[in-house]
Amino acid sequence: MENIKIGIQKSGRLHDQSIDILKRCGISIDNGKDQLKAASPNFPLEIYYLRNGDIPQYLKDGVVDAAIIGENLLIEKAPKITYVMKLGFSKCRVSLAIPKEKAYNGISDFDGQRIATSYPNTVNQFLKKHHINADIHIINGSVEIAPNIGLADGICDIVSTGSTLFKNNLKEVETLLISEAVLATSPNISADNKAILDKLCFRLDAVLKAKNSKYILMNVPNDKIDHVIQLLPGMKSPTVMPLVEKNWSSVHTVINENDFWSVIDQLKQAGAEGILVAPIEKMIL
Ligand code: PRP
Repeated sequence: MENIKIGIQKSGRLHDQSIDILKRCGISIDNGKDQLKAASPNFPLEIYYLRNGDIPQYLKDGVVDAAIIGENLLIEKAPKITYVMKLGFSKCRVSLAIPKEKAYNGISDFDGQRIATSYPNTVNQFLKKHHINADIHIINGSVEIAPNIGLADGICDIVSTGSTLFKNNLKEVETLLISEAVLATSPNISADNKAILDKLCFRLDAVLKAKNSKYILMNVPNDKIDHVIQLLPGMKSPTVMPLVEKNWSSVHTVINENDFWSVIDQLKQAGAEGILVAPIEKMIL
């Protein structure tokens, strides 16, 4: 059987989590340093370790069948390439920023200004939409330094924690787009490889669903079970099993991590005791 070729960052912010999510799908990968290519011994897949900025072109050309890439880069370099799944990590935004001490009155402040960026297409599109004429300076890396060395009046770059902006005395004033890692596909993928990709997506989906969910177990007096069940936004109906102790049961269910704390408080108030919360590794609905 042919292998599907998946591009991932050779180095950079997506690298570690890209390897990690594939491993959590049960796919073994040899991620030895300085390797450009690695085949999985237990899934029909080959990893290509690529420079981040080259990945969109490799997708366009069909050199790789799919790739794990930031949606921001796809929008900038290959807006016609589609993705099959958001992967929930490397969340960031692409934003305009200006020196902290400068007043900001709105987008029109950028009229006639110099903007340094590695995202010229994204910036141009945004400016055009708002009828602003600015001078775009393309810089690949360390964009945030540009205003400090007099190269630009403002910048447009990725903001994640905001610490790079802070360190460079800049403030974020406009968010152009929000982004996260996605699994993008080449328009040239063969039908056979698409079938393998579907299997990979099935596994990724199970891993992502599990990541956002917790398995909870608790002991509940029998006369409180109905009330407790009402509080549980569970998968389907929760499992209820009698305990050795008379008039008590054990209730098990799955809840979304986001609901976690508010539900736990309500459950305690409703009489649940010995509440255990466990991570879920895979979840197939
Ligand atoms: C990106 C970006 C910013 C920084 C923002 O750089 O260019 O400099 O991250 O992140 P923060 O808001 O958490 O500080 P990255 O480290 O990915 O390297 P690169 O610029 O070489 O791609």
